[in-house]
Amino acid sequence: MVVERTQVAIIGAGPAGLLLGRLLARAGIDAVILEARSREYVEARIRAGVLEQGTVDVLRAAGVGDRLDREGLRHGGIYLSFDGARHHIPMDELTGGRAVTVYGQTEVVKDLIAARLAEDLPLRFETEDVRIDGFEDPGLGRPTVRYRHGGEEHELRAEVIAGCDGFHGVCRRTVASQVRISERTYPFAWLGILVDAAPATDELIYARHPEGFSLYSMRSPAVSRLYLQVAPEESIENWSEDRIWSQLHARQDGDGFAVNEGPITESSVTPMRSFVAAPMRHGNLFLAGDAAHIVPPTGAKGLNLAVADVTVLARALASHFDEGDDRPLETYSDRCLARVWRAQHFSWWMTTMLHRDPAEDAYGAELALSQLRYVVSSRAQATALAENYVGLPLERTAGPGPARIHAAEAVDG
Ligand code: APR
Ligand code: PHB
Repeated sequence: MVVERTQVAIIGAGPAGLLLGRLLARAGIDAVILEARSREYVEARIRAGVLEQGTVDVLRAAGVGDRLDREGLRHGGIYLSFDGARHHIPMDELTGGRAVTVYGQTEVVKDLIAARLAEDLPLRFETEDVRIDGFEDPGLGRPTVRYRHGGEEHELRAEVIAGCDGFHGVCRRTVASQVRISERTYPFAWLGILVDAAPATDELIYARHPEGFSLYSMRSPAVSRLYLQVAPEESIENWSEDRIWSQLHARQDGDGFAVNEGPITESSVTPMRSFVAAPMRHGNLFLAGDAAHIVPPTGAKGLNLAVADVTVLARALASHFDEGDDRPLETYSDRCLARVWRAQHFSWWMTTMLHRDPAEDAYGAELALSQLRYVVSSRAQATALAENYVGLPLERTAGPGPARIHAAEAVDG
C-alpha cells in the first residue's frame, strides 16, 4: 500500500479539477489530481466551446491564456433564427463591451494538462476504484481517498476533497442520501457534428424551426460545429450523413444563406437535462462543476459554471490554508448555488424557447415564437439575454445591476 499526503485531493481531471489544481498551485497549496480515464481519452473528448468573458479572464490570470488568446475567436453577438428570418443580438453593445470567446473545452483541458505536467505536479490518469471517506465530520479524523493505480493500492490522506468528477462520478454518489436533487429532463437530445469546413457564419446561429432546433457553431475559421435537435435516446446509426445535412439545410438555410458542408470528423448524441444537487459542501467534501449541476447546452453555461465554482473554491481554500479563515468555505455552497440557479433558469429558458417539444400544441409553439419576437424587438429583453449569455459577474452584489450594462439603440440590425 502506497500512502501519500496532500492538502487537497482533487477527484476528476475535467476543466473543474484541472483548473482548481492550477489555481491552488499558484496559491502555493498542494494538491493531487486523480482521473479515471487516460490522458488520450480526456484530450479527445469533444465538448462545448463558448467561454464567458469572466472564464477567459480567470484562465488568463492563471497563466493558461496564451493559446486561447492566439486561437480563440471573439464573438460580440449571436443570431436567433425563426419565422424564416435571422436576427442579430449585439451582445457587446448591450453589455458595455462584453463578449464570449469560441475556444473548445477540449483545448482548455489540453492547455491545463500541459501546464500541470510542465510543473511536474501530481496528475494521475487511469486511477481505478476511487473511494472517499472520513470527510463528513471535520472533527473526526482526516478525509481519505483510496484507489488503485498501476496495479497498486493507494491511500491519499488530505485535508479537503474536491469532488470534480462530473455527473457520473463517485463523490456525489457517496453523499447521495444527503443531497437534495432538483431536475428536469427534456423530450429531445442534441446530435452534434464536427466538420472540416469553414463556417458560413461569423457568429453562432440558434435556430428554431418547425422540424426542430439547430445550432451553427464553430471551433476555428476552418472547423464548424453543428447540432440538431433529435429524439431522446436517438441512435447515431439512424442518421446518415445525407440525413444530417438535409436537416441542417432545412433548419438553417434561407435568404441566400446556406450551411457549408464538408467531411464530418466526429458525431455523437448528447442527452439534455437540468440538474442541481444541493448543498455543494458535505463536511470537508466540496462538489464542483458537473458533479453538482448540469445544464442543457443551449445557454453554453456548463463549462463556465465549472470555472466559476472552482474559482470561488480556490479563493476560499486559500483563506482557509493561509489565514485560518473558514468563512469563505462556509458560504461556498450558497454563493455557488446562487450563480448556478441563474444559469439554470437561463439555460432552461433558452432551451424551451428554441426547441420544438414533440408534444407541443399550437398554443405552446405560439408562446415560444412570441417570446423570440419579443427578444429581438425589445432592448430590455435582448439585454437580459445578452448579459446572461456573456456571463454575469462572478459574484453579484445587491442592487439594480451593473451600471456598465448600457442600453443599445436598436437590437435588431
Ligand atoms: N475517479 C476519478 N475520475 C473520475 C471518476 C472517478 N470515480 N468519475 C469520473 N471521473 C472523471 C471523468 O473521467 C472526467 O474526466 O472526472 C472528470 C469530470 O470532468 P467533466 O465531466 O468534464 O466535468 P467538469 O470538470 O465539472 O466540467 C464541466 O462543462 O461543458 C460542460 O459538461 C461539460 O464537462 C463539462 C463541464
Ligand atoms: C459548441 O460550439 O459546442 C456550442 C456552442 C454554443 C452552445 C452549445 C455548444 O450553446
